[in-house]
Amino acid sequence: MVITQLTPQWPPSGPRPINLKYDVPQVTALLELAFSEKLDPEGRESVHTSNSAFFLWQLDRDYRRLPPGYVWQEDGRIIGNVTLINTKTPGRHIIANVAVHPDYRRRGIARALMEAVLAQVRARHGQTVMLQVLKDNINAIRLYESMQFTQIGAMTEWRSNISRLRDIPPASFGDVGTETRLEIRPLLASQWQAAFALDSRSLNPDLTWPEPIPADFYRQGLLRSLRNFLRGWSQESWVTQDSDGQLTGIATISAEWGGPYTLRLRVLPEQRDKVARPLLAKLIRRLKNQPRRTVAIYHPDDDEPMNQLLHAANFSPRRTLTHMRYDVT
Ligand SMILES: CC(C)(COP(=O)(O)OP(=O)(O)OC[C@H]1O[C@@H](n2cnc3c(N)ncnc32)[C@H](O)[C@@H]1OP(=O)(O)O)[C@@H](O)C(=O)NCCC(=O)NCCS
Repeated sequence: MVITQLTPQWPPSGPRPINLKYDVPQVTALLELAFSEKLDPEGRESVHTSNSAFFLWQLDRDYRRLPPGYVWQEDGRIIGNVTLINTKTPGRHIIANVAVHPDYRRRGIARALMEAVLAQVRARHGQTVMLQVLKDNINAIRLYESMQFTQIGAMTEWRSNISRLRDIPPASFGDVGTETRLEIRPLLASQWQAAFALDSRSLNPDLTWPEPIPADFYRQGLLRSLRNFLRGWSQESWVTQDSDGQLTGIATISAEWGGPYTLRLRVLPEQRDKVARPLLAKLIRRLKNQPRRTVAIYHPDDDEPMNQLLHAANFSPRRTLTHMRYDVT
C-alpha cells in the first residue's frame, strides 16, 4: 500500500499567506538570522514569543480576524516574512517581524510582502496599521516611509534595578521650596477620568504600545482591586494639581506578580519643568521599599530634561523605537 502525505502546493516563488501548520519553524529561524546583529538575549526571547503569538492565533477567535501575515518562498524555503497582528481595538493592526534573508535583500521582497499585508488589511476594512522600528534602522524606516507610513515619535525604554536606583532631589538647585509648594497625593478614585484625559493630552496615544491605554486605565474600586489581586497585578498612582484642583501630572507604578515594575510618568507639557522631577523623585522613593526587581520606564525620546533625570536616577537606555502609523484610506 502506498501512503501519500498531502503537503500544500505552494507557488515556486513569491508571496503567499503564512501557513501556521508548516511555516513557523522556518519563519523563526529566518527572524533569528535577519535580526542577529540587532538582537540581545531579550530580543531573541521575543522571537520565541512570536511563536507563541502564532500559536495563540490558532486558539483564540479574537486573534483570527485577519490571517497573520505573508511569507516569501524562494528555492523551496522561506526567505521573507511580514507578520500581521490584531489589537483589541477593532480596525487597528500591527505589523511586526519584517525580515528578509540577507542573500535576497534589495530585490523588492520586503516591499511586496508589506503591500500584500496592507492589501489584506484594506480588503477587510481595517483602518490603522502601526509598527515600531529601531530609531537608527534607517533602511527599514526608508521602506516604511516610501509606503506612506508616518513617524509619530520615538520612545526610549529605560531599565534599572531597585538596588541600583539613586534618589534624585525633588527640586532643582535654586528651586528650593518647590517640593513644599507642590503637593503629591495618591490619585483619588473619583479622578480616574481626569487622569485619563491628562494622560491622553500629555502623550500621543499612538506612542503607547501595542495600543492606547483603555479609558478606564486609572479606574479604581472594589471590582478592579479584586481583579488585580486575582491576577497578581498592582497599580498605584500619585498626582499633582494646580490651584484650581486640575491635574497637572500623574505618576504610576504597575507590576505583575513577580515581574518587573513599570513606571509611567505623564505631565502636562506646560507643567513639565515644575512637576516631572518631583513626581519621578516620588516614584523612586516609593520603589525603595519594594522587593529588588527590575524597573522599566518607556518615555518619549525627545524629552531631554527627563532623559537627564533618568540618567541621574541610574536608569540606562536600552533601545529607542520609532512608532510609525499607516492610515488606510
Ligand atoms: C529592512 C529589510 C526587511 C528590507 O528588506 P528588502 O527586501 O531588502 O527591502 P526591499 O528590497 O523591498 O527595499 C525596499 C526599500 O527599502 C529601502 N532599503 C531597504 N534596504 C536598504 C538598504 N540596504 N539601503 C538603503 N535603502 C534600503 C529602500 O528605500 C528600498 O527601496 P529601493 O530599493 O526602491 O531604493 C531587510 O533589510 C531586513 O530583513 N533587515 C533586517 C531586519 C530588519 O531590520 N527588519 C525591520 C524591522 S522593523
